[in-house]
Amino acid sequence: MATGKDGKTQSETKPGNPGNRASAEARQRQAEMRHDPAVLRHLFESGDYPYKSPMERETYEKQKRDLQIELLKLQRWVKDTGQRIVIVFEGRDAAGKGGAIRRFMENMNPRGARVVALDKPNDREQGQWYFQRYVAELPTRGEIVLFDRSWYNRAGVERVMGFCDEAEYREFLREAPELERMWVRSGIRLFKYWFSVNRDEQAKRLHGREINPLKRWKLSPMDRESVKRWDAYTEAKETMFFHTHTADAPWTIIKASDKKRARIAVIRHFVHSLDYPGKNTRAAKSPDPLIVGSW
Ligand code: ADP
Ligand code: AMP
Ligand code: MLT
Repeated sequence: MATGKDGKTQSETKPGNPGNRASAEARQRQAEMRHDPAVLRHLFESGDYPYKSPMERETYEKQKRDLQIELLKLQRWVKDTGQRIVIVFEGRDAAGKGGAIRRFMENMNPRGARVVALDKPNDREQGQWYFQRYVAELPTRGEIVLFDRSWYNRAGVERVMGFCDEAEYREFLREAPELERMWVRSGIRLFKYWFSVNRDEQAKRLHGREINPLKRWKLSPMDRESVKRWDAYTEAKETMFFHTHTADAPWTIIKASDKKRARIAVIRHFVHSLDYPGKNTRAAKSPDPLIVGSW
């Protein structure tokens, strides 16, 4: 039987049969809707995960490889032209930040790309301006810096767990967008990714850490608390977006309940956003709008 472009057998779409015509029209409408920004936004914000099954391993490996090649070309451009790039990975515990960062770094040249994952502030750092230790890690020319958690700790874990006081928190919400604006105006290219997982998926992953000896070390007292304080985190997250989603430094949300799709989507968003020589525009096409959205 002949197969149409969309993979449907032609008899399904053959005109003449009213039932078929109706479903063909419905499909057409659906296809059009998928290009309507308002509809996409609605679908994205509806909260449900848009796919029933995880991305196939084979598809994932192929796309990951193509995207990692793009990352290498991009990195060459960063070095050749002296770009300074910051990528922030934020999200709840077990959202998959670390896993995504590993796929970014997997094939990149470590000379010129590094991960910053700061520990909780020590005594000395606690006596400093809050942003000081983060500013010290900003890139020099030709460098890409990936922040595995960031200054946004103050708007998340510190707020929710009470590690900072109200005044420090308020001041953070004022300073963060101002600073980011200065960084961006000074030429830094700043990407802020929020990895979004739902409550069940988070609980499942944290439970998985308890029983997996390779993952158990990852489990921290913060993780256990973060499950209990889901709603407080939700409120903190919304407040953070409200104050820090700016024209200069917008937040990009990655639906991360399927880790593979999330990793592909975040790398694709990144390479899609930049122009570098030799770009393969098919590999670096715009990311799946059902997985990647703006706040
Ligand atoms: P992760 O999820 O990054 O593996 P944790 O869940 O242990 O790490 O902690 C989450 C974040 O909270 C980390 O960035 C950590 O530095 C921070 N944190 C933990 N304890 C404190 C504290 N007492 N004050 C400030 N920040 C803290
Ligand atoms: P989380 O799932 O808690 O990690 O956070 C990601 C959240 O951002 C999801 O709940 C999304 O629905 C939410 N989100 C995306 N776009 C918007 C928006 N425009 N306004 C409010 N929330 C949004
Ligand atoms: C997280 O999001 O907490 C992680 O960094 C762990 C992971 O990569 O799954």
